[in-house]
Amino acid sequence: MPSEPTPLPGTDRPFEIAPSVLPVDFANFGQACVDLVEAGVDRIQFDIMDGRFVPNLTFGPDLVASVRSLVDVPFEAHLMVHEPDWIVPQFVDAGCGLIIVHAESVIHLHRSLSAVGDAGARAAVALNPATPIEDVLDVLDLVEMVLIMTVNPGFGGQSYIATMEPKIARLRRHIVEHGLDVDIEVDGGIGPATVAAAATAGANVLVAGSALFRDPAGLAHAVSDLRARAEATRS
Ligand code: DX5
Repeated sequence: MPSEPTPLPGTDRPFEIAPSVLPVDFANFGQACVDLVEAGVDRIQFDIMDGRFVPNLTFGPDLVASVRSLVDVPFEAHLMVHEPDWIVPQFVDAGCGLIIVHAESVIHLHRSLSAVGDAGARAAVALNPATPIEDVLDVLDLVEMVLIMTVNPGFGGQSYIATMEPKIARLRRHIVEHGLDVDIEVDGGIGPATVAAAATAGANVLVAGSALFRDPAGLAHAVSDLRARAEATRS
């Protein structure tokens, strides 16, 4: 039996559950957001895809704005968009307080993350599976969160890439050793079978899409079960 990995010191940041809206019924998008909040999620992540940075196309700021007044949890925009600087202000105006920019999507990452702050939101940076954490260590002062993708972005329902765990742990160790106030979010294949390993490695913001909607006991159970499994890694 392999020994359980030991959580890193200083990994006592609160766990947050952030649903991806990809699996929801888009014909009832507003009610789906209300249902997610009633089920106990801490924030809502909107997966913005442009069909160029990723091989899929989703929606723009207008849809986000249409549901902003329905719930009071924080909104974050995960911009899977090539060169997204131009559209950042529109997602801020739509009600997203946190804007996630992919390190691979811009030429001047420091400028793009600084521009998120100039637009009145907080910044986060995302890393695709092949992108090393070293690409973002010099901009951690500009972000409140690093999103480590545990799938190649573009679609929900993909398999979790467990080889991202050492990467999560390396980043968490760097954050702790440098006394930084930065969350680590994971996104892709997060569910009952994978959340504990991601949490043990050092992730504390957990994005789940398909796992929340396939729980036969319902959405609220799925959210509480995911949170309980993450919390259990610290007991
Ligand atoms: C990028 C998307 C998905 C989604 C989560 O592909 O951002 O990762 O949020 O999808 P699940 O939880 O179904 O893997």
